[in-house]
Amino acid sequence: MKVNGTTKIYGIMGKPVSHSLSPAMHNAAFQAQGLNKVYVAFEVTDVARALDGFRALGIGGVSVTIPHKQAVIPYLDAIDPVAQKIGAVNTLLIEDRHIRGFNTDWIGANQALEMIVNLPASSVLVLGAGGAARAIGFGLQEKGATVILANRTVAKGQALARDLNCEFYPLEDIKNLKIDALVNATSVGMTPNVEATPVAKAFLKNIPAVMDIVYSPQETRLLREAKQVGCKTVNGTYMLLFQGVAQFELWTGRKAPVDIMREKLFSKLELK
Ligand code: ATR
Repeated sequence: MKVNGTTKIYGIMGKPVSHSLSPAMHNAAFQAQGLNKVYVAFEVTDVARALDGFRALGIGGVSVTIPHKQAVIPYLDAIDPVAQKIGAVNTLLIEDRHIRGFNTDWIGANQALEMIVNLPASSVLVLGAGGAARAIGFGLQEKGATVILANRTVAKGQALARDLNCEFYPLEDIKNLKIDALVNATSVGMTPNVEATPVAKAFLKNIPAVMDIVYSPQETRLLREAKQVGCKTVNGTYMLLFQGVAQFELWTGRKAPVDIMREKLFSKLELK
């Protein structure tokens, strides 16, 4: 990669950010298309000043990660309507010192799910009530899917279900639900608790498609058991991939080199 006087800078802001896979994925994509762009990590504490810095320095675009996805919103010049509904922004597009906020997490989740299920006609059970479940729930509704929510903590689940205007069930009461797909949007099963799973294997038998947002390990116990009982499955790496693909397309106006981004992401995860 050649960095010169006209190289445009992109990056990720978060805290911490040093372990992010996004620099490898986006730099591979920029290089593959011969774009004079580079993507770096910004560890940010002061969100307002960071955004002013991006404006002042002519940064082209920034991914936003934990803990800043909500905190950036008051400092934007404009926000995409779906990001506004979700209440979280993971992508900044900066043109002429004007910062627009988007959310591509829901786009990533929808595209990953569409590998295994036809969303517009489907009812999808989303497990969880945190930021991930919120983005995925609103995103599924954008696609015309019917969302059903389940969560361990009832009050938190009911609060999100009210915002989504959808049905809610406590996690222990989902046994008899008839659904087309299940999405685990909790952290259950993530390294190091790899033997944890959010639902019993017996429940998975009648579900055609199962997605896990957890990508470490790539095959969680949930996905292993889902495969064993014959469900189609997709792992969390694809959500990560497709949210990055959507960012690339926002920043460049081009179709992303998806295969190159996927290979880079998968090879980085295997090294971990
Ligand atoms: P994020 O913003 O990344 O989605 P979060 O806000 O911490 O993260 O939400 C984590 C989700 O995982 C919550 O829905 C949480 O359930 P509670 O609301 O009951 O806390 C869920 N979760 C985490 N650990 C869990 C466990 N051991 N069993 C069931 N649900 C769990």
